[in-house]
Amino acid sequence: MCGLSEIQTVGVVGAGTMGNGIAQVAATAGYDVVMRDIEQRFVDNGLDSIESSLSRLDAKDELDESPETIRERIAGTTALGDFADADLVVEAALEDMEVKQDIFADLEDVTDSDVVLATNTSTLSITTIASATDREELVVGLHFMNPVPIMAGVEVVTGEKTDAAVTNLAHAFAEDLGKETWESDDKPGFVTNRVLMPWINEGIRAYDEGVASKEDMDKGMKLGTNVPMGPLELADHIGLDICLDASETLHEELGDRYKPAYLLKRKVAAGDLGKKTGKGFYEYE
Ligand SMILES: NC(=O)c1ccc[n+]([C@@H]2O[C@H](COP(=O)([O-])OP(=O)(O)OC[C@H]3O[C@@H](n4cnc5c(N)ncnc54)[C@H](O)[C@@H]3O)[C@@H](O)[C@H]2O)c1
Repeated sequence: MCGLSEIQTVGVVGAGTMGNGIAQVAATAGYDVVMRDIEQRFVDNGLDSIESSLSRLDAKDELDESPETIRERIAGTTALGDFADADLVVEAALEDMEVKQDIFADLEDVTDSDVVLATNTSTLSITTIASATDREELVVGLHFMNPVPIMAGVEVVTGEKTDAAVTNLAHAFAEDLGKETWESDDKPGFVTNRVLMPWINEGIRAYDEGVASKEDMDKGMKLGTNVPMGPLELADHIGLDICLDASETLHEELGDRYKPAYLLKRKVAAGDLGKKTGKGFYEYE
């Protein structure tokens, strides 16, 4: 396994909301990044998001280097083989165990055998993802928060077989990206989503049952409990599909108190996934 100082190239699987954010913060910290998605249009969208985000941060004087210098460190690709030189890989693809296990089995084939493989999963078992590989001790959870360039924290999740040195490396890597970390054992939802998902689902249910308008539901929770976003706007921000996947995992593992709200399922079925599709509980430009 590489020590932190030996990591030069970071592989990122997925160029969506989280993948492009992780690629951006890694490049901003000076790492070369290979960001892969399954289709070129997803790669291009991810690169566009990174460019917009870097321009916004530059306008606020929050970058030490020019956006162009940072952007040049990121190579977008659809070729799995481009991870061959990666010293560390962070997976941020769909929240689906089969998809993640297939990706980890592929990563095992294309990366050196001592490369640490991290997953950004919100709720899925690190131990089960790791079991798709022969290097279970090198698999760890690196759970970034959304939006990655803005949020200060990263949750490090230890699987049943994760080596202590790998856990330490995960903390050190996240800190090198300017984040603070905390640690969770590999239990459904870890610290954050175990508590957040029932809160979001209850907000959706209460709105659906007519307790308040969506605006008052969010306003009440913001002003009443001092959180920056209410449950409906936060669900739109995370992605309703991601919330549903996470809630279904928690429901399956922890029982009925985690049952996803009916309206969440209906909106996902309708393809209204929140900000990323322009419509969720609210509408976006
Ligand atoms: N959205 C959030 O707020 C949030 C926060 C923390 C963690 N997460 C987790 O991060 C992961 C990604 O979530 P997201 O919001 O970025 O999803 P997203 O839908 O925005 O992006 C996922 C991307 O992965 C790509 N993909 C699918 N299969 C792939 C494969 N085999 N190889 C490469 N790319 C592939 C998709 O094409 C898509 O572009 C999920 O596991 C999610 O639970 C999400």
